[in-house]
Amino acid sequence: MGSAMASPVSAYFAFLCLLILSASSSSSSLWVAAVGEAHGSAHESFLRCFHERTLRSQIVYTPNTTSYFNVFRSTIQNVRFLSPENSRPVLIVTPTEEAHAQAAVLCSRRHGLRVRVRSGGHDYEGLSYVAVPGATSSRPFVIIDLANLHAVDVDMETRTAWVGAGATLGEVYYYIARASPTAGFPAGICPTVGVGGHVSGGGFGTMLRKYGLAADQVVDARVVDARGRLLDRASMGEDLFWAIRGGGAVSFGVVLAYRLRVVDVPRTVTVFTINKTLQQNATQLVARWQNIADKFDDDLFIRVLAQAVGEAGRNRTVNAAFECLYLGGAQELLDYMGKAFPELGAQAGNLIELPWIDSVKYFAGYQNRSREILLDRRPEFNSSFKAKSDFLEQPISVEGLEHIWEFLLNSTGEPMTMIIDPFGGRMDEVSAEATPFPHRRGSRYNIQYFMRWFETEAAVTRRHLEWMRELYGFMAPYVTRNPRAAYINYKDIDLGRNEEGEAWAGGSYVKARDWGTKYFKGNFRRLAYVKGKVDPDNFFWSEQSVPPLFA
Ligand SMILES: Cc1cc2nc3c(=O)[nH]c(=O)nc-3n(C[C@H](O)[C@H](O)[C@H](O)COP(=O)(O)OP(=O)(O)OC[C@H]3O[C@@H](n4cnc5c(N)ncnc54)[C@H](O)[C@@H]3O)c2cc1C
Ligand SMILES: *[C@@H]1O[C@H](CO)[C@@H](O)[C@H](O)[C@H]1NC(C)=O
Ligand SMILES: *[C@@H]1O[C@H](CO)[C@@H](O)[C@H](O)[C@H]1NC(C)=O
Ligand SMILES: *[C@@H]1O[C@H](CO)[C@@H](O)[C@H](O)[C@H]1NC(C)=O
Ligand SMILES: *[C@@H]1O[C@H](CO)[C@@H](O)[C@H](O)[C@H]1NC(C)=O
Ligand SMILES: *[C@@H]1O[C@H](CO)[C@@H](O)[C@H](O)[C@H]1NC(C)=O
Ligand SMILES: *[C@@H]1O[C@H](CO)[C@@H](O)[C@H](O)[C@H]1NC(C)=O
Ligand SMILES: *[C@@H]1O[C@H](CO)[C@@H](O)[C@H](O)[C@H]1NC(C)=O
Repeated sequence: MGSAMASPVSAYFAFLCLLILSASSSSSSLWVAAVGEAHGSAHESFLRCFHERTLRSQIVYTPNTTSYFNVFRSTIQNVRFLSPENSRPVLIVTPTEEAHAQAAVLCSRRHGLRVRVRSGGHDYEGLSYVAVPGATSSRPFVIIDLANLHAVDVDMETRTAWVGAGATLGEVYYYIARASPTAGFPAGICPTVGVGGHVSGGGFGTMLRKYGLAADQVVDARVVDARGRLLDRASMGEDLFWAIRGGGAVSFGVVLAYRLRVVDVPRTVTVFTINKTLQQNATQLVARWQNIADKFDDDLFIRVLAQAVGEAGRNRTVNAAFECLYLGGAQELLDYMGKAFPELGAQAGNLIELPWIDSVKYFAGYQNRSREILLDRRPEFNSSFKAKSDFLEQPISVEGLEHIWEFLLNSTGEPMTMIIDPFGGRMDEVSAEATPFPHRRGSRYNIQYFMRWFETEAAVTRRHLEWMRELYGFMAPYVTRNPRAAYINYKDIDLGRNEEGEAWAGGSYVKARDWGTKYFKGNFRRLAYVKGKVDPDNFFWSEQSVPPLFA
């Protein structure tokens, strides 16, 4: 690591939030019969079934097992879901072999239990490990936790890697970079994010303008379907293979592994972070950046992180951090910036040249630590967060930006960062139907509103969540409409949800279409048909799974 490594504004800044869902729990008539009778015995029947099939019991944890809580907690990134109103699993299974995941599906299904699948545990609404309270009470569920299926096998002959769903992005980056100093992978910025959730939901980071989404690199997959069968691309067929590359795997099966294309990176890349406050012309610079950042050379990615900083009545201002990854050398970048964006004033002193793998650490905010830090999957913070997302088709005007800054400056105690990622480049070249991720040509920017906080009081959480909703309302005039688009990996339960026990035939599809089209636009319908084909009984249900539709 170069000693001059400056810190980027960490994407995990503090934020706030709160869960508004009421905890009323009138039980759904549909499940009362099945569950009421089975609840006590279901987990015992599961245990017998699982043991018969696998001859293993050490990989199953009941709430009575001493290590149950540690295993449950191991990758939870958002502690607000530890609240008692979120129900926990009756069992946790931690497969060490693919057959264990098959047995877990078969035995859950046979004994009336739901499954929730967890890879990296970063789900924004905790849906991989708890049930969110709703109008109806949820069926008891089993967590299939894939953290042990985390092998990364890189094959430089074919320039592909088979990656276990339980691997983290940090592991993927580390092992690919170790295989070759000119090999990399285009995916998200946080190294502890899991492959299973991330890739199945799309997945983007600093190389999206050059290479598109993580999901765009998938060439094969191994999936356990609702009948417990283990399928690969050839046996699952192209519909299901399409769905698990951006539609979120949660609705369709348990992804055990993806085979990913490895991409080329130069031996050395260049990064910078340039901070600008309002006094330093941040508004003009952001306005200018919005008009050009999606059209830069594909090798250049510059995102903006905007947040209110300082103290009310003293030095309060908005800081816009321009964070850059350039797939090339520093001098080349300086020349390019001099022509394309001279107003930012990038100078040699701002730039750091480093191997691509160290740029991953730079963006993660891992300073002066060995590369092996990328293999550490433990939660970096035991905190709470809430996020929402939008897309921009048109730049926001200077007046619009000033109004947004005013809203942020007014809101003391709400530590929200607005992360604006430019698209364009490769993202424009992939059609909106090629994968379930529809935000391609025309979706020029993604905005993520992200807030993290460390207080655990319910009232603090509630205040933050309420403020986020207010902000979301405030932003409406500036962002895409009809539908107001959102990114499935920045899952937001406020957009709508399924209720347990809802009649699924058609009715729940029509209801889910409201939020489903925000995430998937016209692709939501095809996702629902795929769901109807591969999981007609809706075994893989969750609060935001795609309901089945029948041709
Ligand atoms: C701090 C932080 C930074 C992030 N940065 C980025 C970023 O830069 N770019 C970006 O695109 N996203 C980013 N994300 C979002 C991230 O991509 C999603 O939260 C992603 O879904 C997490 O995947 P996971 O496996 O860690 O989560 P999990 O909580 O394990 O799973 C997420 C969802 O996928 C389902 N699922 C997980 N694994 C499987 C599987 N194997 N088979 C079937 N279903 C499965 C779960 O049931 C759940 O619904 C970030 C998230 C956090 C918390
Ligand atoms: C990195 O950390 C080590 C140990 O804490 C320290 O000795 C070293 O000087 C640091 N390097 C830089 C460049 O800050
Ligand atoms: C930019 O500002 C953020 C917070 O406002 C700070 O953490 C970071 O160190 C700054 N980075 C640079 C390179 O000035
Ligand atoms: C846990 O132990 C209690 C008391 O021994 C027992 O009644 C209960 O069924 C057990 N629960 C599970 C999930 O094993
Ligand atoms: C601020 O930016 C605008 C537009 O790029 C430019 O015209 C102006 O000179 C800049 N002002 C300062 C103080 O840098
Ligand atoms: C504002 O002032 C406080 C106290 O002097 C200081 O700690 C902080 O860094 C300042 N913040 C900014 C954004 O200038
Ligand atoms: C968060 O909690 C987990 C589980 O208790 C623990 O292992 C981890 O060290 C904690 N992390 C931090 C940053 O406190
Ligand atoms: C900010 O606060 C002032 C004073 O309360 C108010 O007049 C103004 O409308 C607020 N602006 C925004 C954008 O919320």
